[in-house]
Amino acid sequence: MLTRRNVLQLGALAGTAALLPAERVMGAVAAAVSPSVPAFSVPLTIPPVLRPRWSLGNTDYYEITMREADAEILPGRTTRIWGYNGIFPGPTIRTRSGRRVIVRQRNDLGIDTAVHLHGGNVPAGSDGHPSDLVRPGRSRSYFYPNRQPATTLWYHDHAHHQEHRNTYRGLTALYLIGDGAEDRLRLPSGRHDIPLMIQDRSFNDDGSFRFPLGADEFAGDTTLVNGRPKPFLEVEQRAYRFRLLNGSSLDGFVDLSLDSGQQFVQIGSDGGLLATPHATSGIPLAPAERADVVVDFSDYPIGSRIVLKNAFTLFGNDPDVLRFDVVRSATEYSRVPATLVPIERLSPASARRTRDFELALNLAKEQFEINGKVFDPNRVDVRPRLGDTEIWRVTNRDTALGIPHTFHTHLVRFQVLDRNGTPPGPAESGWKDTVHVNPGETVRIIMRFGDFTGRYTYHCHLIGPFDGRDDGPDGSRPMNSPCPGRCFSIGLSADHTRGK
Ligand code: C2O
Ligand code: CU
Repeated sequence: MLTRRNVLQLGALAGTAALLPAERVMGAVAAAVSPSVPAFSVPLTIPPVLRPRWSLGNTDYYEITMREADAEILPGRTTRIWGYNGIFPGPTIRTRSGRRVIVRQRNDLGIDTAVHLHGGNVPAGSDGHPSDLVRPGRSRSYFYPNRQPATTLWYHDHAHHQEHRNTYRGLTALYLIGDGAEDRLRLPSGRHDIPLMIQDRSFNDDGSFRFPLGADEFAGDTTLVNGRPKPFLEVEQRAYRFRLLNGSSLDGFVDLSLDSGQQFVQIGSDGGLLATPHATSGIPLAPAERADVVVDFSDYPIGSRIVLKNAFTLFGNDPDVLRFDVVRSATEYSRVPATLVPIERLSPASARRTRDFELALNLAKEQFEINGKVFDPNRVDVRPRLGDTEIWRVTNRDTALGIPHTFHTHLVRFQVLDRNGTPPGPAESGWKDTVHVNPGETVRIIMRFGDFTGRYTYHCHLIGPFDGRDDGPDGSRPMNSPCPGRCFSIGLSADHTRGK
């Protein structure tokens, strides 16, 4: 049977095979090259929640320094990372809908950076446009008004042509927004609400990150959760909320399940909570997609071990991602109500216009394009008007090569209307900001432009060194090296001009 899972795997394999000599394909697909890590030998760590430097009324002010540091990712080995406050993943910002957040980001790295709050409804000057750089030694304050409901966002680097290297080296972190509607649901909270940032990486024997990814590999062979390889987490006999985020680059697709056969109860997607929870045994996530799930451990005897598995193991990844060890009993205070939050359905009839976007690899130029063009920060391709509703029809033309894409819009959340004419399943029934588009598929999404005007981007979120450019001052990737290509930030600028 052809499931979404097969399609993704076949797609990635077909893409690989078409672009590379067979031996290299086999090399890329063969067993892990990174040092192997014994399963479930390290505890899961949870990124610390950052405290504001000061708060005044409705405003919280944070300070973060982007800097280099040594981290123990693989047990007994040291990895030089670039991290927000020198940690990977960076510190989590937890805020509330309607609070005003200012983050002063200081760049103590030797390279340009740009900080993008992925999924954030933010003014253009704070969006981290790829050409809006924070130069080495300089600082920049980003303003996040949090005019959006409870959701799981993340912030990551977005410096043009450097995103892949900068995020791969560690510049990724969570940003969680809560609100009253969410509180009233009494979902698992506090220490029972745990973010799980899943990311692929490869390592050299000395523990350093292995580059380049993208020349003969399409994803890292080691799956990390919150920066730890195959960790374990001690849990109580009760329900937990896990915020699953695929923070991978390139082809780090995941397809998650529990080896006990238990289903997840999905309660949210990229843009917030769903209208109603739904049970599912598989959670496929393309890079940058999120799924908010509840897993109830109350029926397992103490001593049970449940493994979170990833069925997408094409690049030599271990299917084992994380083990939950049930260690003690607990009193349950949380619940998952049958209805979560009301979701306003955007009606296609209200759309002012429909636009078409075709994603395709240009084999001759070895570059990924949207409507035949690569990203140019000085060109504006789309000018929606403030307050307008639009339908965007996104087509993946890479059928011959079978390359999946993952389409992301800055600023606006959208709803998925249909895939090849078929309405989406419950996992895609809520608000999203990133959607996977399989080869040959046309996905129609609908969005309303507000609350800000200015220049933003949209792009495929398979980040990689795709344009033959230098991948780093560390000499890790020479200029103009042959690039098999996947999607870089091929986003085109969207100018939201104020309509009459
Ligand atoms: Cu996750 Cu343009 O971003
Ligand atoms: Cu793509």
